[in-house]
Amino acid sequence: MAEFAPRETIRSAGGQNGHYGQNGQNGDQVAQPATVTATEEAPSPHAGQWYVAAFSAALAPGKTLVKTIADQEIVLWRTPNDQGRVHAASAVCPHWGGPLGGGSVDDHGTLTCPWHGWRFRHGHCLERPRLKLPRYLAHDDGILLWVRLPWDIEEITAPPLQARPAESLAFWFDITIESDVYHVQENYLDFLHPAEYHTTVFAHCRYMGKEGDVNLVELGYKLPFGKTLTTQTRVWAPTPYQVRNEVYAGLGAGTVIESHITPITADRSIIHEIYHVPAAIAPKEGWPLMRWLMRRSARRIRVEDAVFSARRYRLRRLGFVDGRGLPVNGKTAPYVDEWQASEAALQVGQKLDTLVGKRAPSHY
Ligand code: FES
Ligand SMILES: [Fe+2]
Repeated sequence: MAEFAPRETIRSAGGQNGHYGQNGQNGDQVAQPATVTATEEAPSPHAGQWYVAAFSAALAPGKTLVKTIADQEIVLWRTPNDQGRVHAASAVCPHWGGPLGGGSVDDHGTLTCPWHGWRFRHGHCLERPRLKLPRYLAHDDGILLWVRLPWDIEEITAPPLQARPAESLAFWFDITIESDVYHVQENYLDFLHPAEYHTTVFAHCRYMGKEGDVNLVELGYKLPFGKTLTTQTRVWAPTPYQVRNEVYAGLGAGTVIESHITPITADRSIIHEIYHVPAAIAPKEGWPLMRWLMRRSARRIRVEDAVFSARRYRLRRLGFVDGRGLPVNGKTAPYVDEWQASEAALQVGQKLDTLVGKRAPSHY
């Protein structure tokens, strides 16, 4: 199984072999005017090593929560006192590897291992003081729980929180995808596919250009009786692990969608997606129904996108090159026009001509 590598490693690999959206370098003429590669978008290479672990509501005071992030088994827990502060550490007990997520939490946030009962407080084992438990920084932003994994980047930064609109109502959901983070983000920033692919939701999708790093996109939502409601949105990638969508005109203006992509392993990711809908456009009485409808439609799009990203990631791992397809016998196919001009093509053509009209040999 491939090991997870932080995004900057993947980015540099893409630069060397011409994969990962590096169109044009090998003469690739891929029709992607509206596709913006995540490589171009990403202003920071590593997002400070902060990852979204879960939704805040998933962790109650005095409880533990185990998540795999970038191949690491992490345990999060909340102290019942201390205003429910969140802690994070390796979920692998340093003694014999017991599953700390299955342990108990006392009033002071001391974690007890379920295998031999040793207790850990502030990263130290109370029974064996020389035994240390690797701890991670954790942060609860009210909706999301963040964890900072100590890769090789020393500088400690704050989590890359996204600004949330005041006076808004929110809902959220998560989706797991069999793809690396890159191809999930790439899908979000591909504006050619929405109308063609999400046919139950979108009537059209028009790319209107860029303002700095921000893409301007017009989306037409399908309504009954062939009607369309149009919305204009800004879409960009604040970090290699995020996408932000701000609806600035038309249907749902003021709505903000923050999408956080966390690597579970090198081959699997999870999206935590939050919708902030301005209170002014959410009906007071009808919000639960509106929320249900919006979440259903948003989830449907992301489930379809999960299929898209997973397929593309799998093909890329098999050597697929944009515009050229999968390699055959280890070689990437030439373009059709190159193929026709080659000696090999001529020979194959002649051979095929001799076979025309002949029946396949019978084995009986
Ligand atoms: S494995 Fe955790 S205390 Fe022994
Ligand atoms: Fe999509």
